[in-house]
Amino acid sequence: GNIRHYKFNVMMTNVTRLCSTKPTVTVNGKFPGPTIYAREDDTLLIKVVNQVHYNLSIHWHGVKQLRTCWADGPAYIAQCPIQPGKSYVYNFTVTEQRGTLFWHAHILWLRATVHGAVVILPKHTLPYPFSKPKKEVVIILGEWWKSDVEAVVDEATQSGLPPNISDAHTINGLTGPVSTCSSQEGFNFLVEPGKKYLLRIINAALNEELFFKIAGHNLTVVEVDAAYVKPFETETILTAPGQTTNVILSTNNKNGKYSMVTSPYMDSPILVNNKAATATLQYIGTHNSSTAFTVSPPRNATSIAFNFMDSLKSLNSKKYPAKVPIKINHSLFFIISLGLNPCATCYRGFRIVAAINNVTFVMPSVSLLSTHFFNKSGVFTDDFPGNPQNAFDYTGVPPENLRTMEGTKLYRLEYNSNVQIILQDTGLLSPENHPMHLHGFNFFVVGRGKGNFNPKEDSKKFNLVDPVERNTINAPSGGWVAIRFRANNPGVWFFHCHLEVHTTWGLKMAFVVNNGNGPNESLLPPPKDLPKC
Ligand code: C2O
Repeated sequence: GNIRHYKFNVMMTNVTRLCSTKPTVTVNGKFPGPTIYAREDDTLLIKVVNQVHYNLSIHWHGVKQLRTCWADGPAYIAQCPIQPGKSYVYNFTVTEQRGTLFWHAHILWLRATVHGAVVILPKHTLPYPFSKPKKEVVIILGEWWKSDVEAVVDEATQSGLPPNISDAHTINGLTGPVSTCSSQEGFNFLVEPGKKYLLRIINAALNEELFFKIAGHNLTVVEVDAAYVKPFETETILTAPGQTTNVILSTNNKNGKYSMVTSPYMDSPILVNNKAATATLQYIGTHNSSTAFTVSPPRNATSIAFNFMDSLKSLNSKKYPAKVPIKINHSLFFIISLGLNPCATCYRGFRIVAAINNVTFVMPSVSLLSTHFFNKSGVFTDDFPGNPQNAFDYTGVPPENLRTMEGTKLYRLEYNSNVQIILQDTGLLSPENHPMHLHGFNFFVVGRGKGNFNPKEDSKKFNLVDPVERNTINAPSGGWVAIRFRANNPGVWFFHCHLEVHTTWGLKMAFVVNNGNGPNESLLPPPKDLPKC
């Protein structure tokens, strides 16, 4: 592969949205930030210079980081933050994956505006498993707050209550015209008739699962989370924070303007930002015609959401076989819940927390990866419970006591062991999907169901042939999802809900994967410029 150099100057930039301007943390002055291009097997050297007054780190979401956990990015997990005025070169090779991923800040809530696309082109010798598109375009879905995002989360941390919801959704950083500010332009994509275009759609929103559709055009899904899928046609795509979706758009019309729209999916009555963002698909040569509009599905369009998820299957071709782990070494059962813990300074004396197996993860103040690599003690324990400590009817009546245990607990895996995790939602406090994201690996989604997971019955129905391969999957509200992966990447790997509000509340844990005995089976030593805490 080749070596590709990038430089990210992280800086404050005045950005105007919804007719008001605020100083915003950006990369190279842009929101969204620059797209990183690489071809499979290329090495990326990305120098990140911190010119803002926040501590900083950048995560290359979905990049497997084989033996290079030092470049993964989550603050206090894989590295100490890059302090103001300092820099760090993220140095990694993209192997065994191709497609669309993204990068984002992985500290505080900076990823609201510090994010951009990662495009991994396939090897020349292994072209796309679909006909070469005329053109490719990145479409980043996001959220916008009128006020300072860090102030929003600080306020929530102090009160113990949920943070304010965003004021708008965005498509490539733009809201499109909205009632509060009609002069706001939207993203415009120019196309020719009779061609195929590859849309690389990224959900970079902090807290909202999103629908996306284009008036008058169906979309053919060909890839999710940088793994090919069996192509299928759909009117609407569904994407959770942390997920990416590649679709082929066929321009079957002759001319005209067609709206693209994104809006939230939330099958529960809790408060979300319901405002849709719009962009335009414009056929070249069309000028004054009016735009054909489409309406997004309602926010509780569960059947559209489930149809979409059910349609996702691995391509599982000769060239891209689905290597689903069959013999399982670690069979884990994780229940996801929210809870209430005492907090003297909070409103009513409690703060909202979130937990996996009733453990609310406490962020350390040093890097877990360094702690592990240099064999230091006293920072974490590796006794994360593989099963719930107290079993109950997870989708029935909640237990009376909603207090969780707080700690920095990891789960240890031997190199190359096969892991199955049942992610069981409990619906405690907040009935919503949890997009769970695993660093360092893709996993196969072998099953999903409603209610309580039934080990005997449900595991018989697992798809071990062509399950979709991803890095982020919803633990469905009031149900469960089953995932499998092989722990073939040594390091400390974060596993968390990609709704930023839930990560903040502690819905996170980490796996520590030991070195193997083979020559290429151990974590590489830390780079010289690795930031210190
Ligand atoms: Cu995209 Cu740990 O995050």
